[in-house]
Amino acid sequence: MSIRVTDRGPESPIKLMVVIGSVRPGRIGLSVALWVHEHITDRGGFEIDFVDLAELNLPMVDEYRLPKTQQYARRHTAAWSARVAQADAFLFVSPEINSSFSPALKNALDFLFHEWGRKPVGLVSYGGRGGGALGTAALRPVLSELQLIAVSTPVDIPQASTQVEDGFFLPEEQQNVRLDALLDELGALAPALRSVRESALVAG
Ligand SMILES: Cc1cc2nc3c(=O)[nH]c(=O)nc-3n(C[C@H](O)[C@H](O)[C@H](O)COP(=O)(O)O)c2cc1C
Repeated sequence: MSIRVTDRGPESPIKLMVVIGSVRPGRIGLSVALWVHEHITDRGGFEIDFVDLAELNLPMVDEYRLPKTQQYARRHTAAWSARVAQADAFLFVSPEINSSFSPALKNALDFLFHEWGRKPVGLVSYGGRGGGALGTAALRPVLSELQLIAVSTPVDIPQASTQVEDGFFLPEEQQNVRLDALLDELGALAPALRSVRESALVAG
């Protein structure tokens, strides 16, 4: 599934890529991500590119050269590169898996390098008893390596399946508050980092 929503505010909207990390049949990740999507759409100010990794269906990294070279042999890599390059900010919705984060998300991250750099990212991590915090913690060094700037307010959701009814994720008030705080940070950082990237381009 691919949904593009344009919700233009008074200023140029921030192009926010929302990525669903789970590709598992029966996943609750889609319900959690749809809550995130609806929340952002109601709030406005972001142009959303909704990426379902199950639909994107990237193979395991199959490039000959390192991502830093940006010499892509595969059409799927070039398409993924173009899509990620146009984003100003990211929001990853990932399950906690064995005290880490979604392996499909790790693979999608590993395909590219420069396309991620100097852009802010917010994290929504959910799980069972672990509650998502270890998934977030495992993701942070990967983000750092890719020069993605993680916002300070993650949304961690323990026992997330207990909040899903008829395919809908039913957020607690505190989760809406934290998601708003995360989006506030993304909204503040994205334009600033866009300027930083543009200055770097001018400086050559
Ligand atoms: C292989 C596997 C390992 C898991 N490891 C953890 C874990 O370490 N901590 C945790 O809180 N939940 C863990 N869980 C629970 C998942 O986070 C939970 O089932 C979640 O709903 C999976 O996301 P999905 O339904 O969107 O695929 C694990 C689930 C699986 C299938």
